[in-house]
Amino acid sequence: MNPALTRFGDRMTHLTGVRAIMKDINETLRSGQGQGFINLSAGNPVILPEIEQLWRDCTADLLSSSDYGEVVCRYGSSQGYQPFIEAVLEDFNRRYGLNLSDRNILITPGSQFIYFIAANAFGGYTHDGKLKQIILPLSPDYTGYGGVPLIQESLKAYKPTINLNSTPHRFKYHPDFSQLEINEATGLVLFSRPCNPTGNVLTDEEVQKIAALATPYGVPVFVDSAYASPYPALNFAPMTPIFGENIIHCISLSKAGLPGERLGIAIGDERVIQALEAFQTNLCIHSSRYGQAIAARAIRSGALAEISAHVIRPYYQAKFAVLESALDEAMPKEIPWFLHLGEGAIFAWLWLQDLPITDYELYRSLKQVGVIPVPGEAFFPGLQEDWAHTRQCLRISLTATDEELETGMHRLATVVEQTYQHAAASAS
Ligand SMILES: Cc1ncc(COP(=O)(O)O)c(C=O)c1O
Repeated sequence: MNPALTRFGDRMTHLTGVRAIMKDINETLRSGQGQGFINLSAGNPVILPEIEQLWRDCTADLLSSSDYGEVVCRYGSSQGYQPFIEAVLEDFNRRYGLNLSDRNILITPGSQFIYFIAANAFGGYTHDGKLKQIILPLSPDYTGYGGVPLIQESLKAYKPTINLNSTPHRFKYHPDFSQLEINEATGLVLFSRPCNPTGNVLTDEEVQKIAALATPYGVPVFVDSAYASPYPALNFAPMTPIFGENIIHCISLSKAGLPGERLGIAIGDERVIQALEAFQTNLCIHSSRYGQAIAARAIRSGALAEISAHVIRPYYQAKFAVLESALDEAMPKEIPWFLHLGEGAIFAWLWLQDLPITDYELYRSLKQVGVIPVPGEAFFPGLQEDWAHTRQCLRISLTATDEELETGMHRLATVVEQTYQHAAASAS
C-alpha cells in the first residue's frame, strides 16, 4: 500500500538534519563491528553510575510509596503531575528568587516536543495569510529545530559574527545584531544555551538584548536550556538563567540521565503556557507520569542539582580538556583550524577555515581511518543563504573515552594535514 501523503505528511515523514547522516553512521558502525571505530558522533549521554543509582533509588522509593498506583495506573492532567510541578516551582522560586505559580509551567514528553508545538502554534500562516517566522538568531544551532516546523519556509536563521580568541586556534560565535531582524513578521525566537552543537553560551547581555528586541512585538523567546543549570548543569562557563516577561525557559531532563523517560519543562508567561498546554492535550494528552514521579523525588531532595553540578558537569568538562589538549598537540600550527570555546554541552565544534573539501568529504575520509564525527552542515537549519563556513565544521561528541578522544584527534589531525597539503600541491 502506498497512501498519498499530504504536504504535512510529506514534511514529517522525512528525516531532517543530523538524523539523515545518523543512518549512514549507524550502518557504518554496524558494518564495521569489531573494527574498533571511534564513534565521536553520539548524542546519547554517558550512563554515569551516580546518575543510574539516583534513578534506581527514586524508583525504589516510588515503588514502595502509596503514590505508585496513582502514578502509573491513571491518566493525569495535561499540564503535568502535580508533585513534579510543585517540586520544580519550589526549586526555581527559591534558587532564582522568582514568583512562579503553577500557571507558569507545562510538562511535556521531552523538550523537543515544546519546540514542535511552539513552532507550529506561533510560527506558520496566520488566519489572514501572513507568514510568522521562527527566528534562530545564531546559526549554527540544534539540528532538531529543522524538523519542527510544519511550514518549512517559516524557519529563518541568521549568520553569526565570528570572534577569534586571543588564544591561538580558538573562536566564539556571537549573534550578529547588525543583521538580526525581529518584527511583526516574527512568531517566535528560539536558541539553545548552552548550544548543541557548538558549546557556545550566549552572554546574559545577548539574551537580554534578543528578548528586548522581541518585547515590542509580543514575541515569545524560547531559551532551550537542555544543557543549562540547575540540571543537567552542563555549562562550563558561568551563566545565569534569564527570566522575563516574554522568555520561555525550556528544560530537558535528558542530559540529566532521563532521556528515555521523555521529560521537558516549559516555564514562562501563562498565556503562552496555556496555548502550549492545549496543543499538547490535542496531540498526546500528557507526558508519562513515571518519569515525573521519580524526577520529583530527585529535585525535592536536592540530589539532582547536586549530582548535576558535581558529577555530570565535571565529567564532560574534563573530556573537553582532553580533546582540547589532544588537538593542540596534534594539529599542525600553520593550518587555520579553530575550536569553539568549550562553554558547555557535550560536544566540541571544530572549524577548519578554507577547508579544501566539504565537511561531508572530510567525514568520509575520517571514516576510512576509523573516526566518526558528525559533518557540520546539518547544524545550520533555516539558514537561507549559501555560506562556505557551513561546509567547514565538524561536531565531535564528548561521550567517548579519554583514549578514544586522544587517538581520534591524532588521526583527525593527520587526515586534515594531508587534505590541506594535497590541495596546496595540486594548486602549485
Ligand atoms: C539543544 C537541544 N535541545 C533539545 C534536545 C531534545 O531534548 P529532549 O530529549 O528533551 O527532547 C536536544 C537533544 O539532544 C538538544 O541537544
